Amino acid sequence: MDSRKIKTQSFKPEKKRAPYNRTLTLSKKEIALYKLNLLRICKPIGVSDIINKTICGDILKIVEHLPSAFVDLMIIDPPYNLSKRFNQTSFRAMDSSKYEIWLDSWLKKMIRLLKSNASVYLCGDWRSSGSIVNVCNKYFKIKNRVTWEREKGRGALSNWKNCSEDIWFCTMSENYTFNVEAVKVNRKVLAPYKDDKGKPKDWQESQNGKYRTTYPSNIWTDITIPFWSMPENTDHPTQKPEKLIAKLLLASSKANDIVFDPFLGVGTTSVVAKKLDRNYVGIEVDEEYCCLTEKRLEIAKFDRKIQGYEDGVFWERNSLNDQNEKRGNKRGNGLQGTLFK
Ligand SMILES: C[S@@+](CC[C@H](N)C(=O)[O-])C[C@H]1O[C@@H](n2cnc3c(N)ncnc32)[C@H](O)[C@@H]1O
Repeated sequence: MDSRKIKTQSFKPEKKRAPYNRTLTLSKKEIALYKLNLLRICKPIGVSDIINKTICGDILKIVEHLPSAFVDLMIIDPPYNLSKRFNQTSFRAMDSSKYEIWLDSWLKKMIRLLKSNASVYLCGDWRSSGSIVNVCNKYFKIKNRVTWEREKGRGALSNWKNCSEDIWFCTMSENYTFNVEAVKVNRKVLAPYKDDKGKPKDWQESQNGKYRTTYPSNIWTDITIPFWSMPENTDHPTQKPEKLIAKLLLASSKANDIVFDPFLGVGTTSVVAKKLDRNYVGIEVDEEYCCLTEKRLEIAKFDRKIQGYEDGVFWERNSLNDQNEKRGNKRGNGLQGTLFK
């Protein structure tokens, strides 16, 4: 781990939570149980040993032991260039030039793990994006930048409130997977044109609204970050939404492909891969986050739902009633109390 990462004391007071708070937590018993599932690596290892596993450890030490050319899709959500605490460790903001060196120090070692037709998504904010582009240009073909609206947090008094993040889409070659049909978006229709017979022109009418199923752009405004009322929520400070990761996996991988995430956090990539019938390998340095990943993977065995993804399309925020109606289930499915879907 980078020398700027400093050890801090474990912080474990029992939090008081609202009655409808669905945040996933771990009991001591669960930690003891899930720890047994985790893989720790200190020597070279084959694909069959790591597939569908959570590896607990420092990616900088583990990467050299991983097999070559096993990854179809790599999702990288590293600490951004911000001072941030991740459970027992913290990341400290640094000069952009130093952040670029830090990114390069591990990214260059991951190229060996990728298949020749692999895709890579690298997440960052506006501050990290310059460094990300410089490093990605060295190893990949940069295909696009997705910007997603991250609507949370207070406004800034002397600056524009930061409400967006970037995901850089890169490939190893011109031969890569992109399933655009799998990531269509249901958007509310503002100008509901009708044809000569008075029928909706390329949109559908429901009791709750008018929607058009469209191809996605590189600006995503339909994402809600995990919130206490959502069953996927944990106390991880920068957990990615399952809906966001689902878009990346559906577009850039096929069933049974191997998806690799070297900064796994609480396992969003692995959980979504499992729900979408992909294989996964994830690495995370914090043991408790690894255990939360295992708990989420256990839940995913019987609950494959991804909030906001219904009937093979992605829905706008706050469209739960319309999704229920499409499902023919006007009384809901037990998720009625879910806010910000
Ligand atoms: C931005 S978070 C990833 C969140 C994740 N996408 C999710 O949805 O839960 C980055 C994670 O990288 C982990 N991390 C930081 N340095 C690491 C290292 N050297 N090796 C492995 N994991 C590391 C942190 O503990 C943190 O959980």
